Amino acid sequence: MLLPLIILALSASQAAAAMQPSETCLRRCGDVEIPYPFGVGSGCHLETGDWTFVLSCNRSADGRLRVYNYEIEVVDVSVRRGQLRIYSAINPWCYNGSTSAMNGQSNWWYDMSITNFRINDALNRFTVVGCNSLAYILSPNGTAGADRYMTGCMAMCPGAGRLEKENGSCAGVGCCQTAIPAGLNGYQVSFEEKFNTSAIAGFSRCSYAVLVEASAFDFRASYVTTDEFMASNGGQLPLVLDWAIGNKTCEEAKRNASAYACVSANSECVDSRYGRGRGYLCNCSAGYDGNPYLLDGCQDINECDESRFRYPCSVPGTCVNTPGGFTCTCPDKTIGNAYNGTCGDNKSQLGWKIAIGNPRIRISNVLVKNA
Ligand SMILES: *[C@@H]1O[C@H](CO)[C@@H](O)[C@H](O)[C@H]1NC(C)=O
Ligand SMILES: *[C@@H]1O[C@H](CO)[C@@H](O)[C@H](O)[C@H]1NC(C)=O
Ligand SMILES: *[C@@H]1O[C@H](CO)[C@@H](O)[C@H](O)[C@H]1NC(C)=O
Ligand SMILES: *[C@@H]1O[C@H](CO)[C@@H](O)[C@H](O)[C@H]1NC(C)=O
Ligand SMILES: *[C@@H]1O[C@H](CO)[C@@H](O)[C@H](O)[C@H]1NC(C)=O
Ligand SMILES: *[C@@H]1O[C@H](CO)[C@@H](O)[C@H](O)[C@H]1NC(C)=O
Ligand SMILES: *[C@@H]1O[C@H](CO)[C@@H](O)[C@H](O)[C@H]1NC(C)=O
Ligand SMILES: *[C@@H]1O[C@H](CO)[C@@H](O)[C@H](O)[C@H]1NC(C)=O
Ligand SMILES: *[C@@H]1O[C@H](CO)[C@@H](O)[C@H](O)[C@H]1NC(C)=O
Ligand SMILES: *[C@@H]1O[C@H](CO)[C@@H](O)[C@H](O)[C@H]1NC(C)=O
Repeated sequence: MLLPLIILALSASQAAAAMQPSETCLRRCGDVEIPYPFGVGSGCHLETGDWTFVLSCNRSADGRLRVYNYEIEVVDVSVRRGQLRIYSAINPWCYNGSTSAMNGQSNWWYDMSITNFRINDALNRFTVVGCNSLAYILSPNGTAGADRYMTGCMAMCPGAGRLEKENGSCAGVGCCQTAIPAGLNGYQVSFEEKFNTSAIAGFSRCSYAVLVEASAFDFRASYVTTDEFMASNGGQLPLVLDWAIGNKTCEEAKRNASAYACVSANSECVDSRYGRGRGYLCNCSAGYDGNPYLLDGCQDINECDESRFRYPCSVPGTCVNTPGGFTCTCPDKTIGNAYNGTCGDNKSQLGWKIAIGNPRIRISNVLVKNA
């Protein structure tokens, strides 16, 4: 997929960035939840002067509703992690016996510079599948000359027998993976044309390259010898992007209240992990959960709810939820430590404690209470 670079004309009359979306905004499209600051249509997403939060909900040729950010298909959106999962195309490069040439693109690129996305370097891997294949991943055009080359890897098959044992592990035989640098918002991939499948087409006709979420990829030996890699994944695999609001730090953003996006009570601002000039994220404060980009979006977590959490108190029935936290309070007429100890009868506390084995914490607790 080719994404042309679009220079957005920013209208001066854009709505305040911290505006709240209308109740009528679409919040689900097909299987995908669309949490604010993302949204479909004007008035439904945060306006930051770029395409980051602008989604569309379109019915694809197969009749399914799908979510797109510009031309990129979105798999899911996480407000809590500040991440977006998109589909990344698997690029095949195959020997064509009738023309004796390689088919497919030996060189292609993704450009996400119209958005504020960064490709997550911890979760994704550049992956090459094939038997005589060397591919590079480069930073996109426009990056200064010497810094442009990035990395690559080579997939080889020393022998068919050896390949069979390699199910699941992508470590050079039939498959290779390499980490990518942090902070990319686009990339270019190229196959080294000196390594092609013309001599091994009977066994392995195609090579493939894809930037993919590491946990979403499992190598199978059959990917090298059949078209299963493309067929079983519909030609695409997930890729994790990190998003952020604008290009200011938290400190800078807070200076303009009408544009500051962390509007919920009990929310906090977190600077982008990619550094200065890469924007910020909002997070609910400890003890709160929800959407910090919405007024009253961060709601108290009921830590006492056993159906959601491990019971936080050592004494059953003693948990009391409080705004942003909880307490473990010994029942009436008992004293002790309901967080991590026991509660006992007030009068007989001392004798009872000693009788059950004298752990230091209980004794000191009783001595303090009685002092
Ligand atoms: C503050 O944000 C509003 C809304 O985005 C914008 O119109 C205004 O120019 C900003 N003010 C400053 C001083 O940057
Ligand atoms: C930050 O973003 C604003 C609006 O998109 C843009 O006008 C400005 O040039 C950017 N500043 C930097 C330092 O990139
Ligand atoms: C989705 O639909 C919108 C509105 O009809 C259109 O502008 C956009 O190009 C479509 N996007 C895709 C990826 O088909
Ligand atoms: C080989 O190339 C010819 C001519 O471009 C094309 O018609 C044919 O479909 C190709 N074969 C395969 C297997 O891709
Ligand atoms: C990169 O630069 C080359 C040569 O100037 C050009 O042909 C190609 O289209 C550019 N690619 C991108 C992604 O801009
Ligand atoms: C590799 O995985 C495929 C598909 O799951 C399976 O059919 C095959 O037996 C496996 N090969 C080995 C050596 O485990
Ligand atoms: C495949 O690579 C060999 C060796 O580098 C080269 O001589 C040949 O022209 C290439 N074939 C194709 C179809 O690209
Ligand atoms: C957001 O808050 C949660 C809970 O307080 C915390 O665990 C998490 O690390 C925070 N995220 C960031 C990006 O600071
Ligand atoms: C324990 O008993 C004493 C004396 O009966 C009383 O003053 C104190 O308030 C009691 N403490 C608790 C925690 O019930
Ligand atoms: C037990 O809980 C108290 C009160 O929360 C705390 O101060 C203390 O450190 C805890 N002790 C242990 C051993 O966890």
